[in-house]
Amino acid sequence: MKNSATGAMAAARPGTSKAAEPLARPAGPCVMVIFGATGDLTRRLLMPSLYNLARQQLLPREFAVLGFAVGAKDDDDFRRQIGGALQEGVSAGLERGCAEWLTERLHFIPSDFGDPAGYQALHRRLADIDKQRGTGGNYLFYLATSPAFILDIIGRLSGAGFFSGPSWRRVVVEKPFGRDLESAGSLNRDLMKYLAEDQIYRIDHYLGKETVQNILAFRFANGIFEPIWNRRYIDHIQVTVGETLGVERRGAYYDHAGALRDMVPNHIMQLISLVAMEPPISFAADPVHDEQVKVLHAFQPLKPEDVLANTVRGQYGRPESGAFMPAYRDEPLVAKDSRTETYVALKLMIDSWRWAGVPVYLRTGKRLAKRVTEVSVQFRRAPFVPFRQTAVEQLKPNGLVMHIQPDEGISLCFEAKIPGPIVRLGPVEMKFQYSDYFGRSCQTGYETLLYDCMIGDATLFQRADMVEAGWGVLGPVLEVWANEAPEDFPNYSSGSWGPRSADLLMQRDGREWHRD
Ligand code: BG6
Repeated sequence: MKNSATGAMAAARPGTSKAAEPLARPAGPCVMVIFGATGDLTRRLLMPSLYNLARQQLLPREFAVLGFAVGAKDDDDFRRQIGGALQEGVSAGLERGCAEWLTERLHFIPSDFGDPAGYQALHRRLADIDKQRGTGGNYLFYLATSPAFILDIIGRLSGAGFFSGPSWRRVVVEKPFGRDLESAGSLNRDLMKYLAEDQIYRIDHYLGKETVQNILAFRFANGIFEPIWNRRYIDHIQVTVGETLGVERRGAYYDHAGALRDMVPNHIMQLISLVAMEPPISFAADPVHDEQVKVLHAFQPLKPEDVLANTVRGQYGRPESGAFMPAYRDEPLVAKDSRTETYVALKLMIDSWRWAGVPVYLRTGKRLAKRVTEVSVQFRRAPFVPFRQTAVEQLKPNGLVMHIQPDEGISLCFEAKIPGPIVRLGPVEMKFQYSDYFGRSCQTGYETLLYDCMIGDATLFQRADMVEAGWGVLGPVLEVWANEAPEDFPNYSSGSWGPRSADLLMQRDGREWHRD
C-alpha cells in the first residue's frame, strides 16, 4: 500500500498504543512553484495543507514555495497574504512557530504567465533558493490556474529548460482536464511533447479524501467482503454526490461545463472504479491504475437511442418555500436562457463477469436537499423468509453505505427481530464513524496528494488513459444532450432532491434512491 496511506490508516484506536504506527518520513528537498499563487485554491487549500504537512513534520527542512502570479507585489506582500490565509484556513488553532516556519520559506515572482521576463526571473530565483535552502534543483510545478494557461506555461517552462537535468521535475495539473474525449486526448498528447507520463500528476481532489482511499482498505484488507462483492450477491450500486451550494461565483466556468462534465468523468468515475475494480497485484501506481482503467473500459457504451432513457438532467429553480435563493439562470455570469444542467442522474452497466447485470446508478447536483457524498451498495433480497408474519417483499434489502462526506463512516443495514412476543422484523443499522475512532480531522484533503507528489507516488493521481476512459464513458451522453435541448428547465426546486424524472429512472427498475 502506498506509504502515506499506510501511515494514516494505521492510526490506533483512542487508548491503544501508537508505538506500532509506521511513521511517514519527511519528503525530500524541493521547491514547490505555484502558478496562480494568489488565487483561491492556493489560499483555501494548498497553503493550509502545506501548513498541516509542516505540523506533521512531513515537509523537508530544505523546502520553499515560489509563487508565480499577479496579485502580490513581492515576497513580503505574498507572505502577508498567505499569513492571513492561514489564519482563516487552518481550522484547529494556528501554531505560530509552524506558520512562521512556512511563511519565511515563501517567495514570489509578480508576473503574467505569458511574460518571458517572468521565466528568466524564475531561473534566477530558483537558483538562489537552491543555494540558500539546499533544495537540490527538485521542482514541483503546481498549475493552480485556469486550464486555458496550461499548455502555454508548460511550453515556456520546457523552452526555458526546466524539465531536464539530473534532479526531479514534476507538474501538477488541476481539473477540468479537457471537456470531452477528444480534447482530453489532445491535451495528453500535447503535455507529453514536453513531459514524460511519470512527471505529470493529474489531480482529482476526491482521491485526497480519507474515506475514498479507505474504499481500497475496506475491500482489500478484509476477508469478509470480497467474496460477496459481485453480481451473485449485489443487486445494484448507487453513487450520490449532493451539494446544497449553488454555483456561487463560478458561473462563467460552470455555465460552459455543467454537472456532467464538472463531476462525473473525474470524481464519480474515481469512486466507481475503486468500488468495482479487481484486486490489484500491488498498491503501486500502475497496478492500481491498470485495474481502475479496466472498469472504465468495461462500461457498456450507451447507444444514442438509449441515452435519453438512461439519463436525467436537471437545472435548479428557486426554492419552493423558505429563504430566497436565486434560480440557476439568475446566478451571476449565467445566461438567462441557460440550458446547462446542474443535476445529472445516469444508469450505467459494467460488462464484466463480476458485474454483468448489476446497474450502477449515479446522481449529482447542486442546491439539493443535503450535502452528502456516498456509495450505497445494495444486496439482493433474502430469497425466502421463514417468518409467517413477513413477506420477502416487506424486507428491506441489506445495504452497505460508504459515507464519503460529510458524515464520514460506513454503515450496514440489516433486518432484526423487534423485541416482543410476536415475531416482527425491522431494519437496523450498524455504523462505524471515523470521528469515533480517529477523532475529528483538520485536514483539507490535499495533504496526502501534495506529499505524494513530493515523494513521487502517483497512485492517487490519474494516468492519461484513466482520464480518457472516463470521458469515453460519457461521450454518447454529451453528444445526444448537445443535440437535444432540454425543454423543461428549470425542473427542480432548490432544496429538493432533484427532478422527478430521476426518481422515475429508479422506479422503472423497481428501485429507489437511498435516503438515510
Ligand atoms: C469540484 C467541482 O471539482 O468539486 C465543484 O468543480 C464541486 O463544482 C466540488 O462543488 C465538490 O467537491 P467536494 O470536495 O466539496 O465534494
